[in-house]
Amino acid sequence: MSSEERNLPEVPEWPEFKIPELLSTETVRQLHATIEKEWDALRRSACQTAAGRALWKHVTHDPLAALLAGETYLRSLHEKIKKDCANNASEISGVILAVRTLWFDSKLEAALHSLHGTETQVVLLGAGMDARAYRLDCLKESDVYEVDLPEVVQMKTTLLQAAMESPNEHQHLKIMAKSLTRVSADIKGNDWLEKLETSGYVPEKNTVWILEGLLYYLTHSQAMQVLRIIADKCTMTNTFLLADFMNKPSTTLSNSIFYFYSDWPDNLLPSLGFSRVNLSQIGDPDAHFGLLHNPSNLFNKLRSLPRSIHTNPDGTPCCRLYLVQASGSPNQTLEPAELRLNIST
Ligand SMILES: C[S@@+](CC[C@H](N)C(=O)[O-])C[C@H]1O[C@@H](n2cnc3c(N)ncnc32)[C@H](O)[C@@H]1O
Repeated sequence: MSSEERNLPEVPEWPEFKIPELLSTETVRQLHATIEKEWDALRRSACQTAAGRALWKHVTHDPLAALLAGETYLRSLHEKIKKDCANNASEISGVILAVRTLWFDSKLEAALHSLHGTETQVVLLGAGMDARAYRLDCLKESDVYEVDLPEVVQMKTTLLQAAMESPNEHQHLKIMAKSLTRVSADIKGNDWLEKLETSGYVPEKNTVWILEGLLYYLTHSQAMQVLRIIADKCTMTNTFLLADFMNKPSTTLSNSIFYFYSDWPDNLLPSLGFSRVNLSQIGDPDAHFGLLHNPSNLFNKLRSLPRSIHTNPDGTPCCRLYLVQASGSPNQTLEPAELRLNIST
């Protein structure tokens, strides 16, 4: 019986996925073997998110993601996706990453559009294996800074250099951004901002800060310090923050390596100095991108429950990922009506 006959939504056929040839070259194999042998879960998370973008390449259009992810993570996610498709799952593995990527892309483009005609900087904290500087045309007038731990920055640079030597990959390695600078720094420390400035970042220039998949790896005090540093820039220049926040239940699952959470980032950020804050949940009109085909998907269920609830009706933890955009500038004052946005439930 077809899914139409059973009255179920069609699960789209998964596009064929082939491991790129470049991943089987000796240099690249060895680099990924080092990642698997020597990196901890925190650093490896950079490759896992890249694997998500690679498997969802038909929507993320990230041609470098597979190279940066490595074969092991690609194969493991691909297996899960195949099972989900075979089982007609209500969500396909990796869909959160795909939606999150597209949400950050679209909000980044909108922020840069609103700053059009000015000199802008884009700072990606915990950039991992992100390749936006190579794939987003909207960055052509922006200086991009990617900040991550030294091993991650070094490995990414070396993997991209290896790709440079391959005639097939060469075309994807054109930097779209006005400039791209990688900065090795530990955001938990006190000197990352200084390192960023030494690398060319100018505090007075309009800046979009991207904290994608980062905050929850930090402790509460470390995350708050990073957010305060960024919020303080609102008194100096046009400042945009794009960040995802886990709610408390998401950080309390067993074996979790997550610490920082906020159930109400839309209250937290104004208290730090941002004047405009908007919060989206996966599945909201601006965080859907036509990727959540099954009407009974998990995200629709979550969105129908009040945000204050920490346990689902079936007793499982009510885990949410909030996608938050915030901004501020020296000329803006807090707008109380806007601060109340989305916090009524
Ligand atoms: C889940 S990955 C996300 C990477 C990238 N933003 C993306 O969405 O693909 C988290 C990244 O944050 C980086 N990170 C975590 N803690 C960090 C710290 N204290 N300093 C610098 N980078 C950090 C990790 O090395 C990793 O690359």
